Amino acid sequence: MDRLVTAVGAPTCRPETKKYFIETFGCQMNVLDSERADAQLRKCGYQWTDVLEEADLILLNTCAVRERPAEKALVRISEIRRRKKPEAIIGIMGCVAQAEGRRLIDRAPDVKLIVGTQAVGHLAALVTQVERGGDAIVDVRMPNRPAFDRLAPEERRQRHVAYVTIVEGCDKFCTFCIVPFTRGRERSRSPEDILTELRALAGAGYKEVHLLGQNVNSYGLSRRIEGRRMGFADLLEMLAARSGVPRIKFTTSHPRDFDERIVRAIERWPQLCPWIHLPPQSGSDRILALMNRGYTAEEYLRKVEYIRRASRDISLTGDIIVGFPGETDEDFRQTVRLVEQVEFDGLYIFKYSPRPHTVAARWADTVPEPVKTERLMQLVEVQRGVQRRRWQRYLGREVEVLVEGRSTKSERHWAGHTPCHKVVNFESSMTNLEGLIVKVEVTKINPHSLFGRHVESRAESTV
Ligand code: SAH
Ligand code: SF4
Ligand code: F3S
Repeated sequence: MDRLVTAVGAPTCRPETKKYFIETFGCQMNVLDSERADAQLRKCGYQWTDVLEEADLILLNTCAVRERPAEKALVRISEIRRRKKPEAIIGIMGCVAQAEGRRLIDRAPDVKLIVGTQAVGHLAALVTQVERGGDAIVDVRMPNRPAFDRLAPEERRQRHVAYVTIVEGCDKFCTFCIVPFTRGRERSRSPEDILTELRALAGAGYKEVHLLGQNVNSYGLSRRIEGRRMGFADLLEMLAARSGVPRIKFTTSHPRDFDERIVRAIERWPQLCPWIHLPPQSGSDRILALMNRGYTAEEYLRKVEYIRRASRDISLTGDIIVGFPGETDEDFRQTVRLVEQVEFDGLYIFKYSPRPHTVAARWADTVPEPVKTERLMQLVEVQRGVQRRRWQRYLGREVEVLVEGRSTKSERHWAGHTPCHKVVNFESSMTNLEGLIVKVEVTKINPHSLFGRHVESRAESTV
């Protein structure tokens, strides 16, 4: 029998230093959860290592959103098993841990720890219990409380860009999506708490913050809110005015709750980055209704119109699912038409895969795999053409780049992102640019990145 943790006490700290290794899959929420796990593990005396063979504790932070995730996690566990120290503890966290719970232990009995998505905040206590030996520990409870921990700047892995959750969970229940089952009910965090965290980040020199939520636009709309109620556009304006963070990005925007006030806020505040990730999922009204997305293609296009009419050049990206149950050639043609009409700056295209617990998983997966692949390839080709044309507008332009580090190309090359979230690689004669926001003239357009030349200023040369 697994032990279900019922009382979580303070972690006991130990003098010796043990090492832990975390492998992270999935979205930025998981990246942030791995940082939260770092903070927890340091509390109970662990030190991070990137060498799996050295680790005393190995955590796999998993994603369940597409294609046989539990099987993938178990395959990875068997690889880890071959390489790890014999006494090392293996744990699984993230969305597969939440969705599968103790079933993972039935299939991999040497896994000693299952940490659900709402248990990361007390990981230290769970690890302390596992170290005492005995049965596996499973904590996949979902109290759905709006309990957000604030991560101090020094507890983060990245030095210049920070992720900050503003909404956890999701109440939309799109018929294809497992997230409401792995992240629970939607909870919004208090504006004061978000502001305090951003101010601390700005004070520590962070240049960019990504506000995270499965659906940031429903911030403050949900019943479960910590403290004061405020809409997303109001939150953006308040953070732009008062946080001191030079660049604020946010993801993901759901088209149903997306409104013009968000565009107005981006126009008004230079700190709010001109990038909106607004996934349509399909261009067919029939499929959108089956997906329970809550908008038609025309309503989606109307929201795109607000964005296109804005006084700033706002970059728009999206996600599409091809091969949803019942998707006909005509439905797919409508999706292609939407993609051509919108002209996304970037598009993620996925083949539908049935996910446990979801409504669509009860329907027959009618589109054969080769047809899904064919539709995916066709849409990738359409988007490639759109992107090549659209990105030409950057050629010869000066863009601002937050330098995140050296590019893999050479010592003279640096890499970072623009406010519109494009990757830029560029040449510079300067020896250390990391963490600075610099001007780069774009000289070349690659399929997925821009290339340019550093426009050096006196201020930078004195750094
Ligand atoms: N909250 C975001 C999406 C989060 S999941 C939104 O509402 O837009 C990220 C992306 O994974 C989705 O946009 C969707 O395109 C894709 N996805 C989710 N479930 C999927 C499934 N069952 N099969 C294929 N793709 C899926
Ligand atoms: Fe999933 Fe839909 Fe919620 Fe996005 S809005 S997380 S796709 S259920
Ligand atoms: Fe994956 Fe969970 Fe994120 S399913 S996409 S890690 S919320």
